[in-house]
Amino acid sequence: MTNPSSEQWTVPPDGRPHEEQPRWRQDFPIDWPQDQYIFRREFIKFLLLTSGAFTAGQFWFLVQNFLRRGQPAPPVQEIARVDDIPVGGSLLFEYPAHSPARLLVRVDEETFVAYEQQCTHLLCPVIPQVEERQLHCPCHEGYFDLMSGRPLAGPPQRPLARVNLEVRDGVVYATGIEERTV
Ligand code: FES
Repeated sequence: MTNPSSEQWTVPPDGRPHEEQPRWRQDFPIDWPQDQYIFRREFIKFLLLTSGAFTAGQFWFLVQNFLRRGQPAPPVQEIARVDDIPVGGSLLFEYPAHSPARLLVRVDEETFVAYEQQCTHLLCPVIPQVEERQLHCPCHEGYFDLMSGRPLAGPPQRPLARVNLEVRDGVVYATGIEERTV
């Protein structure tokens, strides 16, 4: 550990230099200049670490987006028959095959929406609350708008990835995935 410069020390009660002070006083300095020096140093370390982690997270997100762009578009896939899902009902499905779970929700007679089921905060599964027009993540009380997938409240900052749908001849098809950052 680097010691602070001498002007940052107050003279200890017994007048002896810092190096000759008992171990407990060196470990737990009670003089304010030293205390504030350590606090400032630790706080700057904390700021550097958190901003570094944030930058790394954003960079990782960009890399993932870039890699996804290089992949072919997922195929059109039949998800369910309209009559199999009552108004207010929902269904889990994989799209494309072997992907994380997606959630299809029937909002009313005519309207279906579908999103990835994992919360964009820490990946807990979201639960539809159709009457309130929202999706609820019970892990940390996160909420998303049912019609857009955008975060409404709680820790999530990014919208849920949306599955594009098409309803044809009484069948709901997934036609693509829309990843969004805002
Ligand atoms: S995991 Fe969803 S709010 Fe934290």
